[in-house]
Amino acid sequence: MVADEIVRVLVVGAGTMGQQIALQCAGHGLSVVMLDSDPEALTRARAQLTGMGAALGSDPAFAGTDLVQAVAAITYETDPATAAADVDLVSESVPEDPALKGAVFAELDRWCPERTIFASNTSSLLPSMYAEATGRPDRLAALHFHQPVWSANIVDVMPHPGTSPETIETLLGLSVRIGQIPIQLRKESPGYVFNAMYNALNREAITLATNGVATIEDIDLAWTTVTKMPHGPFGMLDFVGIDTAWHITQYWATVTQDPQLLANAAWLKGYVDTGRTGVKAGKGFYDYSPATD
Ligand SMILES: NC(=O)c1ccc[n+]([C@@H]2O[C@H](COP(=O)([O-])OP(=O)(O)OC[C@H]3O[C@@H](n4cnc5c(N)ncnc54)[C@H](O)[C@@H]3O)[C@@H](O)[C@H]2O)c1
Repeated sequence: MVADEIVRVLVVGAGTMGQQIALQCAGHGLSVVMLDSDPEALTRARAQLTGMGAALGSDPAFAGTDLVQAVAAITYETDPATAAADVDLVSESVPEDPALKGAVFAELDRWCPERTIFASNTSSLLPSMYAEATGRPDRLAALHFHQPVWSANIVDVMPHPGTSPETIETLLGLSVRIGQIPIQLRKESPGYVFNAMYNALNREAITLATNGVATIEDIDLAWTTVTKMPHGPFGMLDFVGIDTAWHITQYWATVTQDPQLLANAAWLKGYVDTGRTGVKAGKGFYDYSPATD
């Protein structure tokens, strides 16, 4: 299948990234269905997307599109069989766990048409870790977005050794169609290009806080004052989601048994366990509750 033939996209996982990918696809003329195992996540996604559609209607990233109408056309499903009917592409954004991603793709393989391409938005895993589990390894690659998807519009296209050349071409072409700038990875590598650099920053920032070297406010202050960026590492992690940062850190801590990574994961878990997962929860390293006056 060539990129121009992609009409209908199934976004699986309706959290932070699934919502933004759905918006990007719908805002570039694709038909979108969202699938999540948690009905409440779909309710939240619908509300969030309605708000984003209204707020970003005049953003140049969506020029020439009625974004409110495009968002209203997105449908929401908890049943994989219904969601998978007649989709050309699956974009997966479930939590960072290779067994979970493999199981989700294996289930969708039962219901998706033969032509459907599977794209994973994993942050730090390798598609080869779950390629066989998908049942269609030749039609699987990573298609990794950055947030906010419409403005941080670099997308990594990372094949695994069994990905077909046709799948890579289709994903490169689709990326351009949906307003993204694709970077094709020459080999599998955890963290792609931007994330490889960004993960190193996060690891060092979290290490400083975990080891009690400086407060999160001072670590962010050092970063923002020198770089003139609006947010420091912890402010940025609040947008990523501290639960997502914990999933990534915990996975690699378990694999490597690196004592510092294990300590960093335990420190992040303290925030997750108290519901402070970042902007999406209204509180994370910082407080995002609406001001009362
Ligand atoms: N947050 C970021 O900035 C970012 C950026 C790029 C990539 N990623 C990657 O994207 C993926 C998702 O991250 P996120 O931050 O959107 O996570 P999230 O926690 O915000 O959302 C994950 C969603 O997946 C759903 N889910 C869990 N199990 C499921 C299943 N079996 N079937 C269907 N849905 C299921 C959850 O209910 C939830 O709504 C991860 O692999 C993450 O590493 C995250």
